[in-house]
Amino acid sequence: MRAHNFCAGPCTLPLDVLEEVQAELLDFRGSGMSVIEMSHRSPEYEAVHEEALTLFRENAAVPEDYTILFLQGGATLQFAMVPMNLLVEGSRAAHVRSGTWGAGALKDAAAWGDAYAAWDGEPLSFTRMPSDDELEIQPDTRYLHITSNETIEGIRMASFPDVDLRLVGDMSSDYLSRPVPWERFDLVYGGAQKNLGPAGLAVVVVRTSLLETMGQDLPSYLRLGAHAGKNSLMNTPPMFAIYVTGKVLRWMRDLGGVVGMEERAARRSGAVYEAIDGSDGFYGSPVEPAHRSHMNVVFRTPSEELDAAFLAGAEKEGLLNLKGHRSVGGIRASIYNAMTDDGVDALVGYMTSFRDAR
Ligand SMILES: Cc1ncc(COP(=O)(O)O)c(C=O)c1O
Repeated sequence: MRAHNFCAGPCTLPLDVLEEVQAELLDFRGSGMSVIEMSHRSPEYEAVHEEALTLFRENAAVPEDYTILFLQGGATLQFAMVPMNLLVEGSRAAHVRSGTWGAGALKDAAAWGDAYAAWDGEPLSFTRMPSDDELEIQPDTRYLHITSNETIEGIRMASFPDVDLRLVGDMSSDYLSRPVPWERFDLVYGGAQKNLGPAGLAVVVVRTSLLETMGQDLPSYLRLGAHAGKNSLMNTPPMFAIYVTGKVLRWMRDLGGVVGMEERAARRSGAVYEAIDGSDGFYGSPVEPAHRSHMNVVFRTPSEELDAAFLAGAEKEGLLNLKGHRSVGGIRASIYNAMTDDGVDALVGYMTSFRDAR
C-alpha cells in the first residue's frame, strides 16, 4: 500500500507516472534498454528531452521569447548563477528576504556581487510577505529577486510585486501551481523535486534576448547562454529526472495544466486551513492568513509534546513526513501537485480525530 507522503521535497509523484516508468524501465519503447542506459545523443532520448521542454512551455504558458533550460545543481546553483549572469558591473540586485530560502538566495548573490535586502521579513519571524510599497529599491538596481513560496515558513506571495523593475523568481516550491505573469520576469527558476519530478533537475526560464550578452566572461557551465546554445545538452543531462518530469508534465496537462493545478492547490490547502481554523484554537498557524502557502501548510498543536504525539499517530495512519523543518519545528503538510485528494482527506480526518480525543 502507498503511504500518504507529505514530504517537502523530494515528494510524492503521481502513481500513474510511477507505473509507466516501471513498465518502461527494462525496455524503453522497443530500444532493448532503459532510458537511463542510452546515449543522451540518441534519437530516443532526444525525443524525450524535446517533449519535456514542449510540455513545460505548454503547461506554464511560457511565451516564445523565453528560453527554457534543464540544468543541474538544483535551485541552489541558481542562487549563484543568476547574479553571475544578470548582474553587470555597476548594477545591484534587490532581494526580498522573505524566509529561509530568500535569505539563502541573497547571501549567495552578495557573495558574488552587489546585492541587498529590499525588505526583510526576519523581524516578523517570516510570517508574511511584503506589500509593494514596503519594498525599498536603491538606485542602479538591475532586478528584484523574489521567492514566490517559502517552503519552510509556509508563506507565499499571493500576487507578484508590481514594481518598476524586472523580477527574478525562485519558484521551487510552487512551480506550475499558479500562472506566471511572464512579462514582469527576466528569469524564473526552481528545482523539479516538488511539483515537477525527481531531484537532480532545475528548470530555468529566461528572457531570450538577454542570453547573448550575459555572463560573457564566465566558464561555460556557469553561463546560461552556453546551455541555451546547446538546448540544455551541453553535457550529459540528468536524463532520468527529465524523463520522469516529462511524464509528470503530461499528467498535469491532462488535469488542466497550471489553471487546474492552481484550483487544486487552493481547494486542498483550504481544507487543511479550515481544519486549523475550525479547531477552536487547538491547532494554530503563525502565518498571516493572506499569505498562507497553498503548498506547505504549517501548524502546531498547543504543545511540543502534543506535536510529537500528533506526528507519531499520523505515522501509524500512513500519513508520513509531516514533521516541520528542523529549524522551526511544529508540523508541516506539503501538498504539492501530485498529492492525492485521498491523502488530504485522510489528513483532515486525522486532525479532527486527534483533536477530539484530547
Ligand atoms: C524555495 C526553495 N528554494 C530553493 C531550494 C533549494 O533547492 P535545491 O535543493 O533544488 O537546490 C528549496 C528546497 O527546498 C526551496 O524550497
